[in-house]
Amino acid sequence: MTHEMIRVSKAVFPVAGLGTRFLPATKASPKEMLAVVDKPLIQYAVEEAYAAGIREMIFVTGRNKRAIEDHFDTAYELEAELIAQGKNSLMALVEEIKPNDMDCVYIRQPKALGLGHAVLCAERLVRDEPFAVLLADDLMVGTPPIMKQMTDLFAQYQCSILALQDIPPEHTGRYGIVQGKPLATDLIKITGLIEKPHPSVAPSTMAVAGRYILTPSIFNRLRTQTRGAGGEIQLTDAIAALLAAEQVLAYRYKGQRYDCGSKLGLLQANVELGIEHSDIGEEFSAWLKSKKLFGTSTK
Ligand code: G1P
Repeated sequence: MTHEMIRVSKAVFPVAGLGTRFLPATKASPKEMLAVVDKPLIQYAVEEAYAAGIREMIFVTGRNKRAIEDHFDTAYELEAELIAQGKNSLMALVEEIKPNDMDCVYIRQPKALGLGHAVLCAERLVRDEPFAVLLADDLMVGTPPIMKQMTDLFAQYQCSILALQDIPPEHTGRYGIVQGKPLATDLIKITGLIEKPHPSVAPSTMAVAGRYILTPSIFNRLRTQTRGAGGEIQLTDAIAALLAAEQVLAYRYKGQRYDCGSKLGLLQANVELGIEHSDIGEEFSAWLKSKKLFGTSTK
C-alpha cells in the first residue's frame, strides 16, 4: 500500500449460500431476499455500504440468485404502472433501491467452498484496493451505520478492520473469535483469530460480526488457504495468516446486530424494526401490547 490516503470504494457481498436454515422459504428464492418488515436483507446491507460512501457493489452469487440481480435492476413494467397510476411515493421508493451513482456487479461462485473462497472470487473486480465485506444475514443497525463507523476508522488507521461483538461464552462455536489487546477505546489489536472454536478452547468471547474492511493482500492468503472449519476455505483463517505481515484491528461497533441467518434473529429483527417503522410502528406496538406481548414502554 502507498502512503497516500486510500479510501474504501468497493464492497463485496457474498450471497451464494444455500440458506438451508430457512427451507422451505429459500427453496426457490435467495435467503438474502428474506424481508425484515418491508425490505430484503440484502438491501439493508447495500444501503449500509452506500451510507459509508461506497459506490461499487460486488455480489458474489450462485445458482438461484437471480432475484438479487432483478432487485437492483430497473423493473420497467412495475415502474411504468406506478407512473400511470400516479403512485409517486412508491415510484420514489423503487427508484431509491439503486441510486444512479451506484454500480452493481455480479460474479458467480461456482462451488460453495466457503466464505473465504467467495471473497476470493471477487479478486479480479476488487483488484489492488482495500474493500469492505458485508454479510447480509447479519443485519446491523447503528447511528452512524456500522460500515460508516468502520470506514471512518479505516481513514485513520489504513489497515484491515473487523467488526467485533461480545458474546456469551457458550456461543463461541458460532463465530470467528478474536484474541488481542486493547489499542484504543473500542479498538483491539488482533494477535490471533480462530474460526468457531469450542468454548473450552476459545481465546476470548470477542466475536467477529459480519462486517470487514480488508486490505487486498488478503487475496494472496486466500489463494493458498487450505480448508478449515467445516471443510471450507475460511476468511477467518486467511485473516489470521495476514497477522504475520500486517496490523489487523477489531472494532467494537456501536449498534445492534440481528443474526438473520437464524429464524430467531429474523423474528427479533422484524419485531424491533417493526416497532420503529414509520408506517406501522404505532399500530404494531399497540397490537403487541393488546396481546400482552409487549411491555408498557414503547420507545
Ligand atoms: C461467518 C464467519 C464467522 C463470523 C460470522 C459472523 O460465519 O465465518 O467468522 O463470525 O460469519 O456472522 P457464518 O455465520 O457464515 O457461519
